Formats: sequence, C-alpha cells, structure tokens
Amino acid sequence: MAQTRRSFLKMGAALGAGTFLPGTARAAAQEALTLTARPAAVQLAPPEYPQTKVWGYDGIMPGPVIRVPQGGRVSRRFVNELPQPSSVHWHGLRLNNAMDGVAGLTQDAVPPGGSFDYDFVAQDAGTYWYHAHNRSMEQVARGLYGALVVEEPEPVDIDRDELLVLDDWRLDPETAQLDLDFDAPHDRSHAGRRGNYVATNGTYETSFPVKQNERLRLRLVNASNARIFQLGLSGLEGWIMAHDGMPLDAPELIEGGFLLAPGQRVDLLVDVTAVEGETAHLVRVDEENGYSQAAFQVGAAIATVRRGAPKPLPPNPDMDVPGLDAARRLELHMEGGAMGRLRNATLDGELKSFGELAEANQFWSFNGVVGLTDTPLANLSSGESARLSIRNDTVFPHAMHLHGMHFREVLADGSLGPLRDTLLVFADETREIAFVAGKPGKWLFHCHMLAHTASGMATWINIA
Ligand code: C2O
Ligand code: CU
Repeated sequence: MAQTRRSFLKMGAALGAGTFLPGTARAAAQEALTLTARPAAVQLAPPEYPQTKVWGYDGIMPGPVIRVPQGGRVSRRFVNELPQPSSVHWHGLRLNNAMDGVAGLTQDAVPPGGSFDYDFVAQDAGTYWYHAHNRSMEQVARGLYGALVVEEPEPVDIDRDELLVLDDWRLDPETAQLDLDFDAPHDRSHAGRRGNYVATNGTYETSFPVKQNERLRLRLVNASNARIFQLGLSGLEGWIMAHDGMPLDAPELIEGGFLLAPGQRVDLLVDVTAVEGETAHLVRVDEENGYSQAAFQVGAAIATVRRGAPKPLPPNPDMDVPGLDAARRLELHMEGGAMGRLRNATLDGELKSFGELAEANQFWSFNGVVGLTDTPLANLSSGESARLSIRNDTVFPHAMHLHGMHFREVLADGSLGPLRDTLLVFADETREIAFVAGKPGKWLFHCHMLAHTASGMATWINIA
C-alpha cells in the first residue's frame, strides 16, 4: 500500500503541479463547502430547561467559524432549508457588491430549497461575522449568524485565541422557547428587540481553562438585535487592539469598561492576572450590576511574569481617508420613534403623518424618507472621499452600519477616529464620519438595531 501511494504521489508531481491537479482539488473543495441554514435545537438555557428551537447554519448556533488567511478566498454555497427566503451578508468585509448578500438590494432572497454561491477574497485581516440579511430582525434573532476570522500573515504573540459571540434572547421563562413576535410595534418604535437572557457562543455557560500570565486574544462579536453591551475585565488586564476588524494605530489600555453595539466587534489582548484557583471574567454591566459574560478558570502560571505591552496589529492596506477638505459633504437626519419629534415622512412615495406611519408599523425616517427607495442617499464615484454628518434627532441610540467600507469619525478637533464599520450614535448627538467610496455597487447604510432597520432606518449609497 505504502509503495502504491508513494508512486502515485510521484506520478502526480511529474504531471506538473500547475496544471490539472490543483484545479481539480479546488473544484472538489468548492463542491464540499456549503453553508446550510436550517432549523435546529440547542441547549441555550441551563440544562434543567428544554432545548431551544432556533435557526442555525449547518445545524449549529452560532454557525461554523469561518477562518481564512488574509488574501484567502471564502467560497460557500448557501443552501436555504428554512421555511423563509434568506441571504447571507458578510459584515465588515470589503467585497464585490454582488457578494454583499442584501436581499432586495444586491441580490434576490434565496427561496426555501434554493441556493446561492458566495465567493470572495478576504483582503483584510480581522474579526468579522456573517448573518442573515432578509427579515434580519427575525432571522438574526432566531440565530442565523457566525463569526468569520481573517488571520494576519504573521502570527500574533499570544497563547490562545478565543471567539466570544454575544447575544441576548427573548425566551419564555418556563419553556425556554423564543418569543416569535418579531414585528412587535413596541420593539420597533423603542430601543429594538432586547432579550431577557444573555448568552455567549449560544450556551448558558461559557468558560475557558487558562493559566496565570497567559496572553489571550479575545474576539468579541455583538450579534444581538439591539443590546448595547457594556463590558469590563476582572482578573484580566489588557488592551483594545482593533475595532470592527481594523487594528488601532496604538493598542488602548482598558481601564474601566467599554461598549459594544450591535454589529460591532472588538479584538482584545488580555493577560491573565488572577492567580491559580481563581476565576477571571469578561464582565457585563447591566444597570450597575456585574455579571459574568465569560469565565476563565485560572491554573498554574505559564510564566513567572507577564509579557510587556503588545505591539499594534499590522494595519490593513489602503485605509487612508485623504482629502477631507475637498470631500463630498453628505447629511443624514435621523428622526422618529416613540417620544420623538417626527411629524410626517414619506413612505412608498406618499407623505404620511406619524400616526399613519405607526399604523403601517413604520416609525423612523432618514432625511424624511421611511425605508429603502430607488433613490440612494448619495451617488459617489469609486475612490472619492466623502464626509457624512449624522444627526440623531431621536431619543434612542442607533448603531449605524455602512456596508462594504470602513469609515473614520471626524472628531471635534478635526482629527480622525479609529476605523469602524458600525458607529453608535446616541440620542441628540451629531457625529460625522469620513470614508473613501470603495467598490462600485449599492451599499446599504442602516441602523443595526434590527427592528429599526425593519421600520424605516435604511438607505443606501450608490458607487459608480
Ligand atoms: Cu450586519 Cu446590514 O448588516
Ligand atoms: Cu436604530
């Protein structure tokens, strides 16, 4: 047998690696790689509760972690085994518009029983995620999401790399089944659908064995519909290394807490400072109380001292936002919601009073218009710089996400903030972002509080 295999290998090599073999291997690999959305049941609540019926990719929730090297290809045949049309959006990646997965804008929703081939190059290292982008406020709330990690070319100096996908769930306290009222007007007109049960990685208890003085890379994803996580560390000390996949120029020491809004990611490097026998935590603060969002059981020290402060992660290519003075100026006026000042807005081409909008279960407007229309917020040319001022004229915070591009906030002193793809804009704030128009196509810009997206908070930018 060994003999045969060896001669087979030799023959393969003699044929020339550049011709048939790699092509065949690639085709076979592509055929094998599917991502199937289907109903599943998971032990979301503690074991004394029944399993919760969710929707997941490949029968698990969160879906499979997709890991590729920077510059590698992501190829998946999305297969829809749900009772509803669906699509997959690759949140935060600079890909071709046709692969962006926005049902109704960049592609038709894939019907039950149908499929769609996604194929793109992951050009930027970092922590990303993928999620359903049709009826997102229902499909994401049911569990259709997963993490996508693009590895840096050089390994980062750490002992462990962990993904922490955060979500909250609205569960019946008896049966642990999901509240299926996804169109509830109260959620849509207020802060969005928030859960009564918070989990990490789709399970009731997330804990990792670690060692004192270990350095961990924690990749956090906020997959919730509407919860703004307020997080901190206990028994751990570390730095914020990247927001929304994009490295900071200088790691930022974590003193106190930080926020993670829906759709956002953050990469941390943390050192285990707790000693053997203790438990360290990623802490969630909720109305002044601290809860364990993830636990780390500390074992004997891996080294007698901690490492020194980390170097920044390598920057991704072409992320400058030049020419701010001459940049195209754009404005977004956000209005609506409960307790807001919205008197009327245009829905399906007709001016409606707030009362009429509420009857249509629509509550929010961007520049006086409710929801997506054929008219983009702006027409830009690829490579053009733009500055967008966002005025939140509502009493709720909104996590504004731009598809296909990262932006930098223009700060009060004129300097530029870190690269992001999702910006949390608080009530009554005006914030400005600057970006370079990326690849041609139709790029969605919307609130990632998904009940808000569904009730008016969506527009798009056209890039020629
Ligand atoms: Cu993460 Cu339009 O979405
Ligand atoms: Cu919102």
